Amino acid sequence: MTTTIPHQSAPRDEPGGPLLQASGVVMRFGGLTAVRDVDLTVNSGEIVGLIGPNGAGKTTFFNCLTGLYVPTEGTVSYRGTVLPPKPHLVTKAGIARTFQNIRLFANMTVLENVLVGRHTRTKEGLISAIIRGPGYHRAEATSRARAMELLEFTGLAGKADHLARNLPYGEQRKLEIARALASEPGLLLLDEPTAGMNPQETRATEELVFAVRDQGVAVLVIEHDMRFIFNLCDRVAVLVQGEKLVEGSSEVVQQDERVIAAYLGEPFDAGGEQAQPEPSAEPLPEPQPEASPEASPEPEPEPEPSPEPSPEPEQGQDEQQENDK
Ligand SMILES: Nc1ncnc2c1ncn2[C@@H]1O[C@H](COP(=O)(O)OP(=O)(O)O)[C@@H](O)[C@H]1O
Ligand SMILES: [Mg+2]
Repeated sequence: MTTTIPHQSAPRDEPGGPLLQASGVVMRFGGLTAVRDVDLTVNSGEIVGLIGPNGAGKTTFFNCLTGLYVPTEGTVSYRGTVLPPKPHLVTKAGIARTFQNIRLFANMTVLENVLVGRHTRTKEGLISAIIRGPGYHRAEATSRARAMELLEFTGLAGKADHLARNLPYGEQRKLEIARALASEPGLLLLDEPTAGMNPQETRATEELVFAVRDQGVAVLVIEHDMRFIFNLCDRVAVLVQGEKLVEGSSEVVQQDERVIAAYLGEPFDAGGEQAQPEPSAEPLPEPQPEASPEASPEPEPEPEPSPEPSPEPEQGQDEQQENDK
């Protein structure tokens, strides 16, 4: 794996300035309040962790940040501007994400999956694509070169021509990260990036996240692997039953009595063998590609019933694919 993302089209941020500001975010589904009045800031240059028991509202909160859900209350701002709750506009603004359940185009190659992630950053339109003039060819060559750089960065360059479905599970997760980076984000949201990985793959993912941050992309990451979280994060927020219970440095959070009682079970011991908190009631995805959800020919949307109070229309297929960056 190389450790440079050689060029970025997104503006660089002042180190330490606020990038993402979620304020008073509430998400209700009928009678269930999944996210309760959550404030969270991610500053540029930071890696922030979001932890909490299964069902705490972590993924729902990500969905509110990325426009998949329209929060019942509250606002989400990026670089000082309130984000419209539309996934493609959120991506365009500079936030990219991966999904708890991997969403890849299983029957496309690794390289093609990354190219899909680039389309918010390419200016070539339909006419140009039909005419296929010099502008189109130039843009395509640039996109391919950039996609290959990202595959090198994530250690997947040797598999550029493989079908996504044939990658081992850990590499599919990396490919999701490469595809997210292809939209040239300033902030990357990772939803359980090491779920189903072995310890070596998890360590490699840790290195990858550090490398992403070192290239000027801030990271907000949900994970149940506490060693991963506490090694990686500058700051950690703990969600319990939709509410932010505690927020602070790794050192503070891992010793906090309330966090131990509600989630960790015992104080975190970085050196010792420690049982991880109960990660999920759902079975972990199988490491074999044929048994995992990404083996389907098209990316499957997460089975997310439309939030009842949302007046938003159903997303069209284009927009759904947009979510898959
Ligand atoms: N689209 C939805 N409709 C109804 N309830 C939902 C929806 N999405 C999530 N929930 C509920 O919100 C709660 C939080 O879920 P989730 O955000 O997936 O938790 P986590 O990611 O922390 O495990 C759960 O009780 C879940 O069943
Ligand atoms: Mg989740």
